[in-house]
Order: sequence, then structure tokens, then C-alpha cells
Amino acid sequence: MIEQFKKEVDQGLSSNPKTLPSKYFYDEIGDDLFVQIMNMPEYYLTDCELEIFSTKAQELIAAFQLEQGVPFEIIELGAGDGSKTKHLLKALIHAQYDFDYIPIDISQNALDQLQDLLHKMLPTLRVSPRQGDYFGVLESLKSGQKKKIVLFMGSNLGNMPNDRAHQFIYQLGSNLNAGDRLLLGLDIIKDKSIVLPAYHDAQGITKAFNLNLLTRINKELGANFEINQFDHSPEFSEETGAAKSFIKSLQQQQVYISSLNKSYSFEEGELIQTEISQKYNAEILQQVVQGTDFEVTHKIYDSREYFADVILSRS
Ligand code: AVI
Repeated sequence: MIEQFKKEVDQGLSSNPKTLPSKYFYDEIGDDLFVQIMNMPEYYLTDCELEIFSTKAQELIAAFQLEQGVPFEIIELGAGDGSKTKHLLKALIHAQYDFDYIPIDISQNALDQLQDLLHKMLPTLRVSPRQGDYFGVLESLKSGQKKKIVLFMGSNLGNMPNDRAHQFIYQLGSNLNAGDRLLLGLDIIKDKSIVLPAYHDAQGITKAFNLNLLTRINKELGANFEINQFDHSPEFSEETGAAKSFIKSLQQQQVYISSLNKSYSFEEGELIQTEISQKYNAEILQQVVQGTDFEVTHKIYDSREYFADVILSRS
């Protein structure tokens, strides 16, 4: 794990332009900051998807084309806090469908917390958490006979550039069977005045989230980044739909990383890209899905049409 972190930090800081992978945001501090981000007024994404799940569960269920009396599995990629999914699960229980809920996550701790919470909220729900990486677990479930509804919510697909998102959906397809469904929670391209503040909030929570990556490198790899000599610098293009977060060096400086025994130079104003948060329109979605085994069948929006839960069918 630490070897992989070292390798990716060295590769990213040695390339031109410099990059650092966003997956390393999520240590204990980063997880906590992300919860704060989801509660910020500027971060509309969570509220929009919550609105869809809490007011349009019947539409989602209709789009999954389920049959009464035929058992199926709801598989969620990532263990979240259940606040959105519970509305769907509740509606399915209420309609007396026969199903198992299978959250998959790399963190056993996150799965345990979710299971406890769901047990209290929905005591009759059958929950079978699976710890591991998404594809490893999906492969192990593939031979099962039940229809699968895979949920990949929260605009998580957007943290992959479009070519990687395409590969990811392609790989999901090879781990599913004909007739299975995929739900993707996607942020829609909209005015910069709405998107940018979600990544540049007034309280500076997103700044702390982004710069925590440097603190983590300091702590775990023995680096000497002076955090206040760097700033958070997001941008958004309405044309490409890419929201990108950067860390900007505020002066010409050198940073030494002891576990790599190596120094890295930063120019004044130099940017390190840390994240992409892709936003979609019909063309970009088509580009990402084309050539996979999926076909888009339904798009379910919140009332402002800021966000969509898109349903795809595996052919
Ligand atoms: C987890 N992911 C979908 C978030 C996003 O919107 O890209 C991560 C995030 N980065 C900054 N703010 C939130």
C-alpha cells in the first residue's frame, strides 16, 4: 500500500504537468472533510440525488423492470451512509419484492457501520456486505442466477476521465449477465456559476480537502511541504464538462520527500492536477457508453435537472 503510494506520488510529481491521484484524498481526515463537503450549501450534487431517491423511487423501480416473485440483488459499489439508498430499499420492501442488498466496499469498517445503520432503519432488509474491490466481488457473484441491479451513485464515475470511465463500464459489463441493470448517478453540465462554487466553497472546506493530500504526503512519506505555500485552484469548462482541481504553488520552491530520498521543484504558479469531476451531457454519456455491452434506457432527473440517475441495461 505505502509502496504504491510512494510510486504514484513520485510518478505524478516527476511528470509534466504534475499530477497526484485523487484516490489518496480519503484518509481519516479526508473522509471527514468529504462528509462536510456533502453538507455544504454549494455542493448541490448530494441534495439532488437524495431528491431523486426520496421522491422518484417508483420511477427507479419501474426502470429496473423487476418481476414480483422473482428474486434479485441490489449491489451498491461503495458503502456510503445509506441516506439515499434507504429510500429505494424501503420502497422495494414496501412493494414486497424478494431481494438482497449487497454493498461492496474496500473498507470493512464502512460496511459494518452501514450494516448497523440499516439494521436499525430497515430491520427486515436482507443485507449481505462484501468486502473487496468491486470487480473481484462482482466476478464472484457473476455465476449466481439472480438478476443484478448495480448502483454506482454520487457522481463517482466523474472522478475518472472519459476513457477510463468507458473502460470501467466495459469491465462492469463483463462481470454481469444479459438483462442486468446499471444505475449511474451523474452530474449534468450546467452554468459555471453553479458548478464552480461546489468545488470552491466560501468556508474553504474543499481547499482543506485538496491540500490534505500534501499533509498526507508529509506524514506518510516524510515530506516537508509547507502547506500554506500552496493553494487550492479549481476550474470548470462548460464545453468539455470537466471540473478539475489543482494545487497551486504560491512561490518557487523545493520539497524533499525523505522516503523517496528525492527533491521536487515547483515554479511560482505551477499547478498539480489532483482531481477530475466530469459533468455529462447526452453526447459525453454516449461516448462513454458506446462500445460497452450497455444501452441507456432511462434518465431520471431532480426537479432542477442538475443531476441524473441514468439506468442502463446489459444486453
Ligand atoms: C466523490 N466525488 C464524486 C466528489 C466529486 O464531486 O468529484 C469528490 C469531491 N471533490 C471535491 N469535492 C468533492
